[in-house]
Amino acid sequence: MKTLFAGLTVAAIVSAGVVTAQEKGPFAMQIKARQGIMAYRAVNLGVLGGMAKGETEYNAEAAQKAADNLATAVAIDASMLWPKGSDHDADPTSEALAAIWADGSDIGAKAKAMSDAAAAMQAAAGKDIDSLKAAMGPVGEACAGCHKSFRVPQN
Ligand code: HEC
Repeated sequence: MKTLFAGLTVAAIVSAGVVTAQEKGPFAMQIKARQGIMAYRAVNLGVLGGMAKGETEYNAEAAQKAADNLATAVAIDASMLWPKGSDHDADPTSEALAAIWADGSDIGAKAKAMSDAAAAMQAAAGKDIDSLKAAMGPVGEACAGCHKSFRVPQN
C-alpha cells in the first residue's frame, strides 16, 4: 500500500511538471550529463586560471592540455541534453533558467561567444603566460555572461 501511494505521488507530481529534490524528474539524466560537462569545463578552466593568477607555475604542456580539453568540452554537441521542461522550476536539481527556451533567447549567441573564446584560448595557452593571460578574460566573460542570463544566481 505504501509503495502504491508513493508511486501515485510521483506520477502526479511528474505529470504536473514539477519534481521535488528527492524525486527523479523525467530529464534527470540529461541534467546530470550537462552539469558534468560544465564541471569538466570548470576543472580545465581552473588549471588555466591558476597559472594566469600565478598560483601555479606556467607550464606550456599542461596549459595546452587544459585549453584543448576546454575547447573539446565546448564543442560537444549537447543539444539533446537541453530539452524544454528541464529548467530549475520544473526540476530543482537543475540550475537552468526557463529563459533559455523563451522566445528571443540569445543562448545561441552566448554559446557562440564561448566557442570563439575557447578557440582563442586553445591557440594561445601553449605559447607563453602572457598569451594565456590575454585569452583568459574573454573565456571568463563567456562563462559568466551566459550564467548571468541563464543560470540560477549563485551566492
Ligand atoms: C551558453 C551558456 C553557458 C556557458 C557559455 C557556460 N555555462 Fe556553465 N552553466 C550554464 C547553465 C544553464 C548551467 C545550469 C545547468 C543545470 O543545472 O541544469 C550551468 C552550470 C554550470 C556549473 C554547475 C554544474 C553543476 O555541477 O551543477 C558550472 C561549474 C559551470 N556551469 C561552469 C562553466 C564554465 C567554467 C564555463 C566557461 C568555460 C561555463 N560554465 C560556460 C550555462 C552556460
